[in-house]
Amino acid sequence: MIALYVLPLLLQYLFQKYVEKNNIYILAIESSCDDTSAAVLHNTKMLSNVVATQKIHEEYGGVVPELASRAHQQNIVPVVHQALAKANINKKDLSAIAFTRGPGLMGSLLVGTSFAKSLALGLNIPLIEVNHMQAHILAHFIDNESGKKPTFPFIGMTISGGHTQIVLVKSYFDMEILGQTLDDAVGEAFDKSAKILGLPYPGGPLIDKYAQLGNPKAFPFPKSKVGELNFSFSGFKTSVLYFIQRETQKNPNFITENLNDICASIQYTIIRVLLDKLKKAVAQTGVNQIAIGGGVSANSGIRKVLQEAEQKHGWKTFIPPFEFCTDNAAMIGIVGYLKYKEELFATQEITAKARYVINE
Ligand code: KG4
Ligand code: ZN
Repeated sequence: MIALYVLPLLLQYLFQKYVEKNNIYILAIESSCDDTSAAVLHNTKMLSNVVATQKIHEEYGGVVPELASRAHQQNIVPVVHQALAKANINKKDLSAIAFTRGPGLMGSLLVGTSFAKSLALGLNIPLIEVNHMQAHILAHFIDNESGKKPTFPFIGMTISGGHTQIVLVKSYFDMEILGQTLDDAVGEAFDKSAKILGLPYPGGPLIDKYAQLGNPKAFPFPKSKVGELNFSFSGFKTSVLYFIQRETQKNPNFITENLNDICASIQYTIIRVLLDKLKKAVAQTGVNQIAIGGGVSANSGIRKVLQEAEQKHGWKTFIPPFEFCTDNAAMIGIVGYLKYKEELFATQEITAKARYVINE
């Protein structure tokens, strides 16, 4: 008799749990460098991804950490409000808050970390910490128009302003570093070369723009010969500097007269280095699925070369939509979702981590 009353209640409870488990809403926060971003994901689908890019750094030729954290403080509340509004979701319906714990600038990370901790505490929902570099790779698991997602194992290459790494991705949270930069990141190679040419920060997108109109073989630059799957870009930057100094001594208008060719040659050399290392990684691991991530994956040259590699080398390549190349919170959200499913939650004792290795 009692079963007659209990059974419907039990079924209703189980149904509610099933709906909750399959309808995960993550609010994600990214504040590791100079972009303040918030996103809302429904499972693997992105509902909103708001990014406030800090223009203030342009006049200084690079990110000024103190100014970045102040700007995050100003931006974070309106950016989160916008992300919730665009997703058309009330914060009471959120399942968890995910945030970038590191790596990044400590002052910047502290803003996002403190905000996420307070909000999770206030809403009494789980808190999820995310490694920014894992997020650049796992961004490929956000639903996208192509419907293409890599399968395990695959090779991930993170190319950004702070990092250059090749990792073997064995599963969502099992990544082995195969190689990395010993000095400058590839984004720095772009940005510092641009600075030598008198272009504003960040110079990567500008080099890309001018390169499209130039001859990539006009000026040969040396490729560094660092071994295995590691990278080195500081020597490259110096060779660009010496080359420009030499040429402008002979002709003060050298840069303006040859900007497109110089940019095309710089970009060509950098892309050759990246491609050579990827070829080595494929040969070493026998894995021929390649997924790139990080700001430099927005580069039109690298995108083209990787698209062509499908035919040329028989690789399967995964290039993120532009929105997920540079820093954004949607990529933090997908890691939040994947960790939520595994119940990998953080406690209120968690602190930001400026140096945070991808496989830690
Ligand atoms: O991932 P990201 O937004 O921030 C970091 O975590 O560093 O990457 C920013 C970097 C900058 O160095 C910027 O110049 C570079 O990505 N970048 C590009 C392009 N778009 C952004 N580099 C070359 N070509 C581009 N189209
Ligand atoms: Zn990044």
